[in-house]
Amino acid sequence: MKKIIINGGNKLKGDIYVSGMKNAALPIIFATILTGDMCSIENLPDVTDVNLSLDILAAMGAEIRRTGSTSVIIDTSKLSPECPDNGMVGRLRGSTYLLGALLGRFGDAKVGFSGGCNFGVRPIDQHIKGFQALGADVLNEDDCNHVTAGAGGLHGGSVYLDIASVGATINVMLAAVTARGRTTIDNAAREPHIVDLANFLNMCGARITGAGTSFIKIMGVEELHGCSYTIIPDMIEAGTYMAAAAATGGRVNIKGVIPKHMETVTAKLQEMGVGVDEKDESLIVTRSSALNGTNLKTFFYPGFPTDMQPQFGALLASASGTSVITEGVFDSRFRYVEELAKMKADITVDGRTATINGVERLCGAEVKAVDLRAGAALVIAGLAAEGTTVITGVELIERGYNDIVGKLRKLGADIRLEDTEE
Ligand code: EPZ
Repeated sequence: MKKIIINGGNKLKGDIYVSGMKNAALPIIFATILTGDMCSIENLPDVTDVNLSLDILAAMGAEIRRTGSTSVIIDTSKLSPECPDNGMVGRLRGSTYLLGALLGRFGDAKVGFSGGCNFGVRPIDQHIKGFQALGADVLNEDDCNHVTAGAGGLHGGSVYLDIASVGATINVMLAAVTARGRTTIDNAAREPHIVDLANFLNMCGARITGAGTSFIKIMGVEELHGCSYTIIPDMIEAGTYMAAAAATGGRVNIKGVIPKHMETVTAKLQEMGVGVDEKDESLIVTRSSALNGTNLKTFFYPGFPTDMQPQFGALLASASGTSVITEGVFDSRFRYVEELAKMKADITVDGRTATINGVERLCGAEVKAVDLRAGAALVIAGLAAEGTTVITGVELIERGYNDIVGKLRKLGADIRLEDTEE
């Protein structure tokens, strides 16, 4: 079993380079299905969710050729519409994008139920609503989602999303780019990875405008072709290391970021008394005085990212005063609080609100990552805590962080990865 072991207290110092964004890479990998051609993708993060997505495509007959540790050529010209039914699809949420991509390419998509981090129910009713607006029918199956276009294929439609869902926005875009006519998505998600997907699809010949706003317009085209594309840097990985630097009171230069994507994280850290010096493509994070508590509400982009909420819960646990976190995106994203309590954090959760009474210092303990960002929160807590913290559930952290132990060691953390047979 893999364990991360941290002896807390070292201040982080030095430079760290951010990898490509997992949540931009996943939709773009599945979007290559629509091209039926060769696509060269650069700046892919070496994380299990991305590698699993490539394995799913390979199992469907795509040719995957690694051209470097973070670059790949994907050829989907010989892809079969059959999804693997060996459990691969159920291991990540990103496989939902197979629905939109296969529907757009083949007019039919039969995909096993997706997995993903477990924080409450994760429905796809908005995805389905979008497909139906394009003329697709949903067939009731017990063991998979099955959507199919009518005999005439997909046509453009007007979609109003009841929730600015990232996944639903992505899936409707994937299905609509080759549908006949004009599609509009109102109340669309505005995240940077929506823009990245639209840029990729437009490089492949799609006609998408408005990505990054809440109103996206898509003019369907006959077919798409391959392209070369570089994934944007991972704003959540960057924010995680910003929080780690703030937690330890060090000075870290986080390189290869798009500072605009980090605006809300930067603002919150500055409210807490943390120095954030913005350069063109990097952020220097320093903390020399005590951390001030603050209040935090997560919301759809450009709000504070829900994927940074657990990390800030760990940071605020030893900030002065009382802080309140309100989770505005998911029903229950506070499962990490139980683990922080083992480290003597004083946090009470009531529905979507967590009230944090800052303590002088957390204490090292044996804790378990219950999902990807919860695991990152425990790493941050361990870096700042007194004593030794042992984290299990490391596989969940590896879903979204490339070499988090190596990157933190380079910054001076006393951290190691142990892989024992037990
Ligand atoms: C994506 O999940 C990300 N996952 C999540 O990141 C991220 O937390 C989330 O977007 C929000 O930014 C990937 O990109 C693979 P949503 P997704 O659809 O698409 C409700 C991480 O840590 N909803 O925007 O599943 C839903 O229940 C992961 O990297 C419906 O009700 O998120 C939630 O409350 C965790 N019906 C809210 O909307 C739907 O049809 C936002 O979900 C779809 C969503």
